[in-house]
Parts: sequence; C-alpha cells; structure tokens
Amino acid sequence: MKKGYFITFEGADGCGKSTQMNLLAQYLLKNGYEVVLTREPGGKGLGEKIREILLNYDGEVSPRCESFLFLADRAQNIDITVNPAINAGKIVLCDRHIDSTVAYQGYGRGLDIEKIVYLNNLAVNGRKPDLTFVYDIDVETSMKRVGTEKDRMESAGKDFHNKVRHGYLELAKQEPDRIKVVDGTNSVEEIHKKTVEIFNLLLDRDNFENR
Ligand SMILES: Nc1ncnc2c1ncn2[C@@H]1O[C@H](COP(=O)(O)OP(=O)(O)OP(=O)(O)O)[C@@H](O)[C@H]1O
Ligand SMILES: [Mg+2]
Repeated sequence: MKKGYFITFEGADGCGKSTQMNLLAQYLLKNGYEVVLTREPGGKGLGEKIREILLNYDGEVSPRCESFLFLADRAQNIDITVNPAINAGKIVLCDRHIDSTVAYQGYGRGLDIEKIVYLNNLAVNGRKPDLTFVYDIDVETSMKRVGTEKDRMESAGKDFHNKVRHGYLELAKQEPDRIKVVDGTNSVEEIHKKTVEIFNLLLDRDNFENR
C-alpha cells in the first residue's frame, strides 16, 4: 500500500496557499495519488462550526478561549480527517496548521512559543507534517493581493505582519528538512513547478531511506 503523507501550506494572507494547494492536488490526482484537502480552522463537521465561531463570533472572546478553540479544532481535524486518511495511504494537504499558530500568536502577538508548542503537541497527539511549504511574500504584496480585506490587514499593522513573516523564516531555519520556503512573488506556474519539485524530493528521500 502507498504511504500516506501530511503536507501543510503556510504563509501570509494572500501568499498563494489555496492556489498552490489546489494545483498540487490536481497534479497528485493526475499521478494516481488519493488526496484529501483540509484546512485549519475548519476541516469538516464540527471543525466548520468552530471555524465559524472563530471567524464570525462578535461578542467578547478571551484570548485563552480563542487559543483553546484553535487547538480543539486542530485535535478534531487530526483525529477525524488527517490520521484516518494517512493510515489509508492518502496524501493530506492542509491549509494552515501548527506553524500558523507559532508565527501569528507566537512571533506576531508575542505569546510564549514554548507553551504554544507544548499545547499543540497535546492537540496533535504526535502527528507532525512530513512537509510544509511557506510561500514567502512581503507585506505590501500580501496587502495588494487580499484587496478588499486590506482594511483588516492594515488594522493588524505592518509591524505585526513583518513579525509573522520573520517568524515563518525563523521556523524554516530551525527545521530545514520539513519546512521549505518558496518565493511567493514569482508566477503561479513557477511556484507550482517548484512545489512539485520539492514534493518529489520528499518521495525520493523516503524511497532512498526505505531501500
Ligand atoms: N504567484 C502569484 N502571483 C500573483 N497573484 C497570485 C499568485 N498566487 C496567488 N495569487 C492571487 O492572490 C490572491 C490570493 O491567493 P490565494 O487565495 O491562493 O492565497 P492564500 O494564501 O490562500 O490567501 P488567504 O490567506 O487569504 O486564504 C488570489 O487572487 C490569487 O489569484
Ligand atoms: Mg486561502
């Protein structure tokens, strides 16, 4: 049976996560892989309800409650969607995961990263991405691409988004085997080509190690 993989897509708003995840999914399907797409917050069922609360609830939310909701959603996504698919030999593509939490809440908002990682480990119960793409773009490009969302972006502040970007790059330095930074300002086609190339390197490495 084919080996399953867990691949996550990360980076700023508008960096191309959804575009590249969908293109990679099409490539994988064409090449005979079974693919499952998911996202955080979100996924399916209860996950969608948690996403709705996280994105739309307009009453008072304690920051700790918000953090636990993100983690609850992640636990649900791992248990209900990710692990069963990987165990069945499928390739799971996930739009945002742990590195978003560390980059935004940790590097961006300044929450204790060690604590975030500790709590995250409880939520994922040992499951780690096999490969993570970070599509790196500057804050100006991000703002241009999200267009109508610009106000929300600006209200969070350039400084915040620069910290998030720096956070992702720092994480990639710490885990160079897992996290691959791709220049997100190139054309969609070029970035897709690079994404496929990096995915195939992961397969080559696994085939080599299992010989
Ligand atoms: N390489 C690229 N060059 C120019 N425009 C791009 C590129 N990649 C994506 N876009 C455009 O930028 C916008 C955001 O792309 P996309 O939705 O894939 O980003 P995202 O990272 O999923 O954003 P979000 O965080 O808001 O979900 C879309 O309009 C998309 O067509
Ligand atoms: Mg998206």
